[in-house]
Amino acid sequence: MELSIYNPSNVKEIEQLFIQTFSDSEGQSEGETIGHLVRDFMNSTDSNNLYCFVAKENEQIIASIFFTRMIFESGISAFILAPVAVHTDHQGKGIGQKLINFGLNTLKENGVELAVTYGDPNFYSKVGFTVMTEKVVPAPLKLEYPEGWLAQSLVGGEIEPITGKSHCVEALNKPELW
Ligand SMILES: CC(C)(COP(=O)(O)OP(=O)(O)OC[C@H]1O[C@@H](n2cnc3c(N)ncnc32)[C@H](O)[C@@H]1OP(=O)(O)O)[C@@H](O)C(=O)NCCC(=O)NCCS
Repeated sequence: MELSIYNPSNVKEIEQLFIQTFSDSEGQSEGETIGHLVRDFMNSTDSNNLYCFVAKENEQIIASIFFTRMIFESGISAFILAPVAVHTDHQGKGIGQKLINFGLNTLKENGVELAVTYGDPNFYSKVGFTVMTEKVVPAPLKLEYPEGWLAQSLVGGEIEPITGKSHCVEALNKPELW
């Protein structure tokens, strides 16, 4: 398996991976919603505000992950991990965790100080995330599942409470995604 930064010529293959994987796990409607989100990321998000990584096997993309910039009024450099997909036939073999760690290390090398995500604490705790209250890390939109609001420092130490508001990229700025 080979991990790398995505190549924009793979946009269609990546979109298809997300549609298929999320349709398999959460139904067709969720598959389409996530497919739309990643297409939006790749088509309309400034490259300074986006990281996308892929895992390939035999030249096929079998997993992919997105990180997009979050702006905090405090000025801390931060990205949100969402979404990540490992093709249904390749799940449960450690690929998801390897890809997430590869992405987090690349962010760290590029001076990013904080990673946040929104999902299942049981899974994301395996790659260093812990549950946060919105008093510590303000969320950009109202959270339907505050228990899934997670973060980790990429510079070591505890996360100090961040004051002020936060903002996400336009493609994520939709109440139904939160
Ligand atoms: C979630 C996902 C990215 C994990 O990738 P993966 O390669 O299958 O996971 P790994 O093999 O690295 O890790 C497996 C571990 O995570 C746990 N795990 C996997 N998927 C999980 C999920 N959806 N919820 C909770 N735990 C999960 C497994 O129980 C396993 O734990 P164990 O090692 O203690 O047995 C992948 O299963 C996937 O794409 N699922 C469908 C889409 C999705 O839910 N994406 C995440 C939300 S954005």
